[in-house]
Parts: sequence; C-alpha cells; structure tokens
Amino acid sequence: MEDQIRSLGERAHAELGAAADEAALEAWRVEHLGRKGALAALMTRLGAVPKEERPRLGALANEVKAGLQAAFDARIAALEAERRRAAEAAERVDVTLPGAPPNPGRLHLTTQTLRRICTIFHGMGFEIFESPEVESDSYNFELLNMPRHHPARDMWDTFYVNDTTLLRTHTSPGQIHAMKGRAPEPIRVVLPGRVFRYEAVSARSEFMFYQVEGIAVGRNVTMAQLKWLLESFASQMYGGKRRLRLRGSYFPFTEPSVEVDMDCILCGGKGCRICKGTGWLEIAGAGMIHPNVLENGGYDPAVFTGFAFGMGPERIAMQVHGIDDIRYFYSNDLRFLAQFSAEV
Ligand code: DAH
Repeated sequence: MEDQIRSLGERAHAELGAAADEAALEAWRVEHLGRKGALAALMTRLGAVPKEERPRLGALANEVKAGLQAAFDARIAALEAERRRAAEAAERVDVTLPGAPPNPGRLHLTTQTLRRICTIFHGMGFEIFESPEVESDSYNFELLNMPRHHPARDMWDTFYVNDTTLLRTHTSPGQIHAMKGRAPEPIRVVLPGRVFRYEAVSARSEFMFYQVEGIAVGRNVTMAQLKWLLESFASQMYGGKRRLRLRGSYFPFTEPSVEVDMDCILCGGKGCRICKGTGWLEIAGAGMIHPNVLENGGYDPAVFTGFAFGMGPERIAMQVHGIDDIRYFYSNDLRFLAQFSAEV
C-alpha cells in the first residue's frame, strides 16, 4: 500500500509536468485530486489495512495529496502570470514612435484668393464692405439702372425667392449700399461676396460662385485711374509687370463700360492654350458709374464721378493655377482642395 501511494504520487507529479495547457491541467486535477480520482480510491481502501498501519499510511496519503495540490496550484499561478505578462506586452506603448500629425485643415482656395484680392486693394486705400446675399429686386436691378422688363436683366438668370426678393446675381447691389451709407463723402470700397445664378452647371459656370466688386466715387475720379488701379492690382495678383487693355462693352450700370483684359500670364501675349491663342486673359468687367446709379446712391452726378469694376476670384484662381473646371471648387473633393495649402 505504501509503495502504491508513493508511486501514485510520483506518476502524478510526472504527468503534471507534462500538462501543457489549462485543459490538460484540469483533466489532471480531476484524475488525481478529484473525489473520484486515483488517490481518493486508494484512500477508501485504507479501512482494509491493519489498524496499526492506518495512521501512518493515512498521513502519507494526505502528505502526497497536499504535495500534489501545492504543485498544481503553483502551475496554475505560473500559467496565470504568463498570461498577464503576454497581455501587458501586447498593450505596451512605444513612446519613442513618432506621433500621428494632427490634420489642421486649410483655407479653401476661394477664401485664400478672396483674402489676397482684398489685401491688395486694402493696400491701395480701399475699405472692405459686405452686403446681403438675399436682396430686393430693387437693389439687384432697379437701382442699378435696370427697371422691370429691361432687356438687360436677361444677362443674369435669377433665383427668385418671391416677386420682390431674390438671391443676388452679382455683388453690384453692394455699390448702392456702400454709396448710400457714405454719400456725399468720397469712397473707395471693395465688396467680396457670394452670388447665385439660375444656370446649368458646366466646366465654365456654377450656380454659386464669388465676385469682388470695387467702386471709387469722388470729385474727378477718372477712367485713367481705373486702368492704373487694375494694372497695379494685376501685377500684384499675378506677378510681373502686367499690361491691360480695355475693350468697349455694355453693362447697364456703367457708361462707358469695358471688359478688362490682361496680357496672358503663361505666354506673355504670344498666344497659347491658356489664352486660347489670343494673348489676352479677361480679368474684369468695369466702367464709369452711370449717372442714374450715382444718383440712386445719393451722389449728385453733376459734381461726382466714379468707377466700378467686378471680378471673379474663382476665375483668377483658375488662371493662376491652371485649373480648367470651375466645378472642382465646390464639389468638396479633398484631392483637389488639399493641393492648395493656406497662406499665412
Ligand atoms: N456685375 C457684373 C456681372 O456680374 C460685373 C460688373 C461689370 C461689375 C462691370 C461692375 C462693372 O462693377 O462696372 O456680370
């Protein structure tokens, strides 16, 4: 019996050493330490041994059992410790790795262009003035010398809110707001803003885009000053010494009216893909403010004169960056937008 107990203990220790995982350990525990295990079975047979042997053998069996239990507990604890170490290793942070750079976003190309345009005119003594995007028919058309049913209204396809209210089709109504606020003081103002056209969208036209309007009103304001101003603007905006030409045109709110062309920034006037072989790029509409418009703004046309111009920042950005489709601006495609990092 004693030999049996001892050899059972030895075998159990050997098998415990071979048990590799939790399932094997549990099977071992049931087999050797369980109530129906081998040791328990031996112990039930203790009653059959001679009485004087019983205490010694009982103590031996208990000692073997306690040894097995302790060895088993140690294995479980080791397994647990190993699992914890593995989990910690998996969670460990390498603080020497470079961090993920924050994505700070950037100013939209239109915003960058508008800011640049305004900065240039501000540097030449112009105030920045903003006026509403939702306008009355009167400000958008009538006060700009286009009464109801005037055929020139066809130049602007209009989103009407109701009979008398609309989304402004150009920034020109801002001329009236700016003049009314200041007359009869002389003024120099630029008006950046968003405008809307009821038009089919194409590579060349959007239903929403921006304009920058400019006016100067005072005594002896002349067309020569307008040309000098826009030439100076063009040189600062596009770089180099730019040349302008004024082509006769028609706008109801100016008389005379002109289209302003600049020598092509790519070919310098020889003719290329950007200027479609003409050597010139159109950069603005302009003219001398019509006497009726001056009067609607509160200036006496017998005393005051003024010039006005309007330009498109998207078109300017397209010329500067060689962009051939205006739809890129407002389709929110980061592949396009991310190419134009913000200026400081
Ligand atoms: N408002 C015109 C347009 O949207 C642009 C324009 C032309 C503005 C001539 C002006 C101007 O101030 O003098 O087409």
